[in-house]
Amino acid sequence: MGLQCLILHWGLSEAGIETIKKAHDICPLTVVESEYSMIWREPEKELLPLLEELGIGFVPFAPLGKGFLTATIDTNQTFAKNDTRSRQPRFRKENMEANQVLVDLVKKIADLKDATPAQVALTWVMAQKPFIVPIPGSRKLSRIEENINAANIKLTKEELTKIREALDNLELKADRWDPNSDNAKRVGK
Ligand SMILES: NC(=O)c1ccc[n+]([C@@H]2O[C@H](COP(=O)([O-])OP(=O)(O)OC[C@H]3O[C@@H](n4cnc5c(N)ncnc54)[C@H](OP(=O)(O)O)[C@@H]3O)[C@@H](O)[C@H]2O)c1
Repeated sequence: MGLQCLILHWGLSEAGIETIKKAHDICPLTVVESEYSMIWREPEKELLPLLEELGIGFVPFAPLGKGFLTATIDTNQTFAKNDTRSRQPRFRKENMEANQVLVDLVKKIADLKDATPAQVALTWVMAQKPFIVPIPGSRKLSRIEENINAANIKLTKEELTKIREALDNLELKADRWDPNSDNAKRVGK
């Protein structure tokens, strides 16, 4: 007799492709959480097509690139030891400087859409697939309200195509972790 699935809704965070397939086979998954944003588009390669095929929802964490896409982070900014950004290559000064091209792009779109950079970053994530619900983090009520209002901004098909082309042409220094770090070894297993 096969295993009986007694869970109504459940999800996995940062799981790899094979783990998702195996888990879904045992008990259908409701949702998967992983990092996804204009600065980290890795899920487009394998994860999003798999979730679409299996009918699983996607909850991207860090949809604001941990604040970077909001255009409020100064490249001279340093991060406290207990802030994960202090250990992430993409938040080193030289890499933040290299990635300003992306902030400039987000700001340009924000001007065109009469929106804020944070709203553009969220609208873009939501526009990629109908089953995506981003979870931006903020400790400030005004920013939470600003972020919620991203749902009222719409990007046209033409705008999305142009943004995709622009993103594809950027050379970003966007690594999440140093390749030999424990974090890098744990992700996507
Ligand atoms: N499963 C996992 O491994 C994992 C990993 C990371 C995160 N998460 C979850 O995902 C959630 C979101 O990720 P995250 O917080 O790391 O990254 P995020 O949502 O991309 O960015 C959050 C950062 O952006 C700032 N921010 C938010 N809204 C803003 C706005 N409108 N304008 C300017 N700055 C703004 C926040 O600062 P203020 O707080 O000062 O507004 C904070 O520093 C977290 O709350 C966490 O629960 C899960």
